[in-house]
Amino acid sequence: MADLVEETKRLREEFYFKLNATSSSEDLRDLQIFYLGRKGALTGLLKTVGSLPPQERPEAGRAVNALREELEEAIKSRRDEILSLEEEELEEKQWVDVTLPGRGRPWGRFHPVIQVMHDVIEIFLGMGFSVALGPEVEDDFHNFEALNIPPHHPARDMQDTFYVDGGLLLRTHTSPVQVRSMLRYGAPLRVVCPGRVYRRDSDPTHSPMFHQLEGLLVDEGVSVADLKGCLEQFAKLVFGRPVKTRFRASYFPFTEPSMETDVECIVCSGKDPSCRVCKGTGWLEIAGEGMVHPNVLRAGNIDPERYNGFAWGIGLDRIAMLKYGLNDLRVLFTGDLAFLQGGWL
Ligand code: DAH
Repeated sequence: MADLVEETKRLREEFYFKLNATSSSEDLRDLQIFYLGRKGALTGLLKTVGSLPPQERPEAGRAVNALREELEEAIKSRRDEILSLEEEELEEKQWVDVTLPGRGRPWGRFHPVIQVMHDVIEIFLGMGFSVALGPEVEDDFHNFEALNIPPHHPARDMQDTFYVDGGLLLRTHTSPVQVRSMLRYGAPLRVVCPGRVYRRDSDPTHSPMFHQLEGLLVDEGVSVADLKGCLEQFAKLVFGRPVKTRFRASYFPFTEPSMETDVECIVCSGKDPSCRVCKGTGWLEIAGEGMVHPNVLRAGNIDPERYNGFAWGIGLDRIAMLKYGLNDLRVLFTGDLAFLQGGWL
């Protein structure tokens, strides 16, 4: 009996020592199993009661059971403590400050030239034109010959061409898409053809790659007045306000008569003789155009006796520079992130 009392005391002390060291529900569960489980320390102790003299057994049994109840109670209250600690910890971890400002996400945006390309296409879609595309690596026929520029024609000197293997070249303008569209769709026809073009040219106002948008309208009884109305309307819509335009006589092999269109300087409106954008002239060139030459219609398999039409070419990079007030063409092509992320707006 004395041994059993001694052992009960020892177990009890040991239990409380370990209990104080528990810090999680898992620890506590292990502790419970160790002392109160089916094969636990108290079950072991209870077994020794059977080996005591019969008269001592009831008291010894009571003592062990009292200890069991006490330990169960102690574990229960420790569990409540731990659970509320764990809950607090969880709350702390999951706490969200809903008043913090949101984290900004970098937005992508179109390159200014592509933005202008979309805007310009939108304008012509509104006038009933469709979009047609052609290859950037062209052949001599579409880029020159079909456009009434035969071999040795002096007009070939107007455009310094990049040649590639196999008699091909990088298109020097979007005009070849005129011919491809006529051959593909026939007349009547209304298309705009945006895209990259290439010339051996590089200085502050010229880049070896730049962007044009070709326009072509073929129908019966088309007049120069139709052409002028179309481009005047375009100028007004692309700059977002009524702008003065003028048409100057010019020369292109693929049109007759040929013209160039200027708009009043959108920076100084012709009022500043030292304006850097229009160089004091008050005018800015935005397009070359004319009535489609009969030879070009023929190359496109269209009967010039029945149909006629007009065509134009617009420099999209130039429109972007004017629209966004850029004074150096090169910012469009050097990939400066600060500029591309909206520095042009
Ligand atoms: N292809 C000419 C160029 O690159 C621009 C042009 C002028 C296109 C007159 C046309 C046109 O369609 O009719 O300079």
